[in-house]
Amino acid sequence: MTTGSDLLGRYAGSMVQVFGTPQLVLASGHGCWVTDVDGKRYLDLLSGIAVNALGHGHPALVQAVTKQAESAIHVSNFFTSEPAIALAERILAVAGAPEGSGVFFANSGTEATEAAIKLSRRTGRTRIVALEGSFHGRSTGALALTHKAAYREPFEPLIPEVVFVAPDDAEALVDAVDDTTAALFVEPVQGEAGVRELSGDYLRLARALTSAHGALLVVDEIQTGVGRTGDWFAHQASGIVPDAMTLAKGLGGGVPIGALVTYGSDVTAMLTAGQHGTTFGGNPLACAAGLAVLDTIERDHLLEHVGRVAALLDDVEIEGVAGTRGRGLLRAVELDGIPSAAVMVAARDAGFIVNAVTPTALRLAPPLVITEEELHGFLDALPAILEVARSAEQMVP
Ligand SMILES: Cc1ncc(COP(=O)(O)O)c(C=O)c1O
Repeated sequence: MTTGSDLLGRYAGSMVQVFGTPQLVLASGHGCWVTDVDGKRYLDLLSGIAVNALGHGHPALVQAVTKQAESAIHVSNFFTSEPAIALAERILAVAGAPEGSGVFFANSGTEATEAAIKLSRRTGRTRIVALEGSFHGRSTGALALTHKAAYREPFEPLIPEVVFVAPDDAEALVDAVDDTTAALFVEPVQGEAGVRELSGDYLRLARALTSAHGALLVVDEIQTGVGRTGDWFAHQASGIVPDAMTLAKGLGGGVPIGALVTYGSDVTAMLTAGQHGTTFGGNPLACAAGLAVLDTIERDHLLEHVGRVAALLDDVEIEGVAGTRGRGLLRAVELDGIPSAAVMVAARDAGFIVNAVTPTALRLAPPLVITEEELHGFLDALPAILEVARSAEQMVP
């Protein structure tokens, strides 16, 4: 029988090593649980980094994808298909986007960012303001807006005129956004930075400043969108209406898809025929998956469900946990003196998949369908996990 370690040996001999050594070789998933090739089960508290919104093997998603695959998987953008049109309409409806708004479908988050960067260039300006801690993707345009130097520097020079400002610092934002600014990019909750939420006041200031200076406000909801925070889109809690929104991750429930949403006819008209494109974007398979995700969130009242189960993570009083932050089912558990990498390993050994998002914090982004019982299972196990991690750390010379 092929084991996980056999497969990891083959991985090392066949893959570009940009991800280092994978932690596990996963074979299958059902609901919020995944099983590795050696048969060990784990509660998936990460859902493929905020992707498997409906968990694994959800019947609505499986049926939608299977049915669509039997009719048409791909049609090219010389043509279109009903699932693409229907998904665009549904996204605009749940986004509350005004008349004349539009959707451009891509295949990933970074491609959605690229589309937003090109949109911002159509203002006739080139200067972009982004936030410290930001993550907008790894393609070279998106990378220029991604703050972490270690990601950017090996690939410089990237597109110029990107300015980074400290998040939630009103004064810095007032100074940075001016009449030369093409766009301001913000993530309502910065997932990769360790689940750092922007305040509603800051988002409203961002809206006011960009409007006053004729710059676009782009909200990156690639990680926070599609129900993850308990709203359809995280920025909606602040009441702002952006000029553009980027989506990916949870939208396809695991089937690759990305999207740029343009708000209102003026912004939508900024990209005209021939100015952007992609071969796979808007393919009926991915769009059928997106429709199944949105339908299921609505039909099963998952936004309310997220609010309810996420309350369990509001006040976690466990020795070794300094606190939690984030919103809905995008959370960080800040640890008190125990390295997150050690906790991640101990959690995995105990049958829980979590992510060491910073050296001191775990990220939780479970499927939106996780039950209170499943989340309790993790919280009940956490003290012992922390104890194991603490002892393992003490044994390190
Ligand atoms: C906020 C945000 N933007 C953009 C991206 C890039 O998305 P992708 O990895 O699909 O290119 C990510 C991925 O983690 C993200 O979290």
